[in-house]
Amino acid sequence: MSLTACCLFSMVTAETAGWLVAFAKRHAPPPALPIAARVLDATTNSLEWIVRRTDPLTPPFRLRLHVGPFVDPRVYRASAERNVGAFRELCALRPEMSFLDVGCGVGRVASALTRYLSAAGTYDGFDVVREPVEWCLREISSCFPNFQFQYIDSFSKRYNPRGDGRSSELVFPYDDDGFDFVFAGSIYTHMLPEEVANYVAETARVLKPGGTTFATFCLLNERSLAGISAGLSSPSLPHAHGEFRIRDPADPGSFIAQPEQFVREIYRKAKLRIDEPVIYGSWADVSRKEPEIFKPHGFMQDIVIGSKP
Ligand SMILES: C[S@@+](CC[C@H](N)C(=O)[O-])C[C@H]1O[C@@H](n2cnc3c(N)ncnc32)[C@H](O)[C@@H]1O
Repeated sequence: MSLTACCLFSMVTAETAGWLVAFAKRHAPPPALPIAARVLDATTNSLEWIVRRTDPLTPPFRLRLHVGPFVDPRVYRASAERNVGAFRELCALRPEMSFLDVGCGVGRVASALTRYLSAAGTYDGFDVVREPVEWCLREISSCFPNFQFQYIDSFSKRYNPRGDGRSSELVFPYDDDGFDFVFAGSIYTHMLPEEVANYVAETARVLKPGGTTFATFCLLNERSLAGISAGLSSPSLPHAHGEFRIRDPADPGSFIAQPEQFVREIYRKAKLRIDEPVIYGSWADVSRKEPEIFKPHGFMQDIVIGSKP
């Protein structure tokens, strides 16, 4: 099966698999969950080993689904390689740079960066879900000590419903002016407007002068609103939430698209310059048949590249 076919297969089956995992989480008695997770991981890891798709830096199927429609581990790895290709081509990321991954998930991009950053380079990532961070510490940091991960206990209705802190007030646990490159991939689509504004301001604080930030959004503009109205977007975002579009009124942060003007404004307030042009992804019109889904940069979302003067 070609990688393109795998992408499409992954997207369909990921929804079913995600639904099954959510169902199990809701209905299994809590003490049984860690055991069920271990059994599922052992089963899917064995199946992937049999069909020769394993790789030590690729997490089990269950954790891959935490960050995207990555049923097929090859799609997971290819998307990350393309992301790193984009950092190099569009932003001149160099091996000796310091890299921060905001909402690092299960280290998808970190795994690909282990093959690019040199021993002089550093990678830091943080996330509000503990288990993927623990997996990264165990499987990545143990082999690559210049790759570090942190769990932050901030509230997210979807991802960390028992979290204590507010993302709208979080101070990233890093010094001012410390990073050459700050990446935020597919995370602002899961955060409320005041939270995104704070993260963009914090990005500006921790970037070195001259540093680059690469973030993905689902931007609302004439083109994307037409796609949403025609039912062509993925996700469908049927509900208005002020000027924003959301998937689920009971949890606006579960998937949210921001007006492009709002994003431009928070960059301006954070004193980050947007390096034009914004690169629009395929999310608003998936009928553009999607061998293109993860092409050319490995993102369906829109890419905003910015820099700190
Ligand atoms: C779609 S996944 C993307 C993960 C990773 N950036 C990648 O590209 O593979 C979204 C991630 O954002 C994290 N997340 C959600 N809200 C967050 C917040 N307020 N702060 C940090 N991470 C958050 C989730 O736990 C999840 O790992």
